[in-house]
This record gives sequence, C-alpha cells and structure tokens, in this order.
Amino acid sequence: MATRDDPLFLRALSGETLSKPPLWLMRQAGRYLPEYREIRAKAGGFLDLCYNPDFAAEVTLQPIRRFGFDAAILFCDILVIPHALGQKLWFVQGEGPRLEPVADAKRLGEIHEEIDRDVLAPVYETVRRVKAALPSETGFIGFCGAPWTVATYMVAGRGTPDQGPAKELFARDAELFARLIDRIVMASIVHLNAQIEAGVDAVQIFDSWAGSLGESDFERWCIAPTRRIVDGVRARHPKAKIIGFPRGAGRLIPAYIRGTGVDAVSLETEIDRSFVSEQIQSLVPVQGHLDPQLLRAGGAELEREVEVIRASFGAGPFVFNLGHGILPDTPIAHVERLVAAVRA
Ligand code: CP3
Repeated sequence: MATRDDPLFLRALSGETLSKPPLWLMRQAGRYLPEYREIRAKAGGFLDLCYNPDFAAEVTLQPIRRFGFDAAILFCDILVIPHALGQKLWFVQGEGPRLEPVADAKRLGEIHEEIDRDVLAPVYETVRRVKAALPSETGFIGFCGAPWTVATYMVAGRGTPDQGPAKELFARDAELFARLIDRIVMASIVHLNAQIEAGVDAVQIFDSWAGSLGESDFERWCIAPTRRIVDGVRARHPKAKIIGFPRGAGRLIPAYIRGTGVDAVSLETEIDRSFVSEQIQSLVPVQGHLDPQLLRAGGAELEREVEVIRASFGAGPFVFNLGHGILPDTPIAHVERLVAAVRA
C-alpha cells in the first residue's frame, strides 16, 4: 500500500480514493509543445531523440514544468523493441513508422533472440536523469507496447487500419506468429525490468489495437502474452505498479484484468461509463478517458465533460487522463484549462 508521502498518482494506483484525481496525459511530451518541436529539430530524426539521454530527458520533463502533471512518462516509443531485436526501423516525417516486414520464417529467423542492450542503454540513462530531476511528488511511468500491438507493426512494416497482415499471419501460421509473440514477450520483460531498475515507479503496457481482436484471439494474443509480461516483471519487482491499456477491448476488460493481473487499466473514450463503475472499477483503479478531440476543441463542452468524468469515476480510485494520445494541433490554452478544471 502507498503511504501519504507517495506521489498522488501512486496512491490512486494503490487503490486510494482521492478528493482530486491525479492527472497526466498520454503523449504529453509531443508536437503540441513549441519547446518539444525545438528539441525535435535539434535532434534530427525521431529515433535520434529517443536515443539521446540529454534530449529525451529534457522533453520528458517539459510537460511537468509547464503544467505540473502528477506523473511524467518516459519519452521513447514502443517500436524500440523491434529495433533492439534487430529489425530495421525508421520514421517518415508526417506519416509514421516503417519497418522491414517480418511475415515468414526466414525473416523471423533474422530477428534476434534477445534485445541488444547497447541499443537501449541510452533509454535507461534517460530514466536515471529524469528520476534525479523530478519533484518528489511526481510519479514516473515507463512503458512498452503489448506483444499484439508491437507484432502488428513488425508484420506489416507500418501502421495498418485493420491489422490485416498480422491477422492473416496468425490465421495462416499460428505457430510462427506465436514464436514472434514469444520474442516480444521476453524482450518486453527485460525492457520493463530495466526501466524499473533505472527509476520508474510504474509501467504501462500499450495495446492500441486490442479492440480489433475477437474474443478467442483476444485471449490468446492479448491476455495470455500480457500475463507473461506481468509475471516476468512481478518476479523481480513484486511492488511495481502495472497499468494495462487494452484500447477498444470494451466489455472484455474484466476478463483482461482477471487474466493478466494488471494493477490498473486505462480506458478508451468510447467505453460505457456505467459498465466501468459496475464491472471494472470494483476490480482495479481506472485511468482515462477524455476524448482527445474535445481537448483540442476546448470551450464549455470540455469543462462539462471533465465534470461528467470526475462524477463518474471520482468516487473510487481514479487517475484523470485522455482516452488516447493528445493530438498534435491541441492548443496549449486548452491543456491549461483542463488542468485547472481537474484541480478545481
Ligand atoms: O506518452 C508519451 O508522451 C510518451 C512517449 C510515447 C510516444 N509514443 C512518442 C511518440 C509513447 C508512450 C508512445 C507509444 C506508441 N508509439 C504507441 C502506443 C500508443 C498509441 O498512440 O496508440 C504506438 C502505436 C506507437 C508507434 C508510433 N510512434 C506511431 C504510430 C507513431 C506515428 C504517429 C505520430 O503520432 O506521429 C509514432 C511516433 C511518435 N511516438 C511521436 C511521438 C511524440 C511523433 C514523432 C514526432 O515527433 O515526429
């Protein structure tokens, strides 16, 4: 159990109901901040930013200084895992990630058994620097992508609207797909444990494409691999807080919580709120779930929605957040209004 001296963020994750919810935003370090764009331009490529501890620590801290959020999230990306497993990765400006697709046994054979520690060493150095600089009242979150979501990028070589290439692979050759998932599981355990050892207090597992799986595939490719990661982290760090984000899983979330053993879940915007208070918040603390488009639009609707969310979840353990990442063209003034409304 957290104590009164712990950051509010960790107290909420430990099950405490607070009078004002702690607040952070997914993708809080990013293009909507001029100070981020400045560092991004200096760094050159996006990966150069992720792997430079001076720059990555600076952009992690920027939203804390500007808005005083209750938690910082390490600046990095879920795709550093395929990169550290030897898959070629690059980012196309304005489009997103590209990888050399892994869709057959030959290509899977080229993926390493273990992550290259030299590739990720700067990420753990970033964690140490941020930890040393953060105020004691601010929580610190590390993360990885869930195996299913990471696999969708590894197989297709890019983001896909329907995760078609990954689904096609598991339908055609489930054994091969299971071997790919297995590599990602093992790498993610090592990566999360290294982040915790370097100083993060909690980790979040981003399963952005969980909602595209039918119930049986959700059990096999989302719940079961996530459980292995949770067990692998707990084996070394029994007290580390683990947040799951099975985006779009909706009514399958209670099964996800029971099956994975996560300490808390992050909720998508679209979820039914009465279902959350009846079936989810009674199991674990929840985090979420303001629509990023409402934050971008701002105005009275934004303030009304903040009140509805606080009224819906504030009677139990709750962390205020978005239902997905902040949009790059979100005005800073709207974020300031959000912070004021959540703290009012
Ligand atoms: O939340 C944070 O502030 C921490 C940093 C973070 C980033 N990506 C930085 C980033 C985190 C937690 C992520 C997670 C991530 N990355 C996910 C899961 C969450 C989600 O959004 O669904 C996924 C699927 C990725 C893969 C990825 N990285 C994509 C699809 C893209 C392109 C889309 C885009 O927004 O440009 C990225 C690039 C990326 N990752 C950026 C940032 C700030 C933008 C890069 C830039 O500055 O040019």
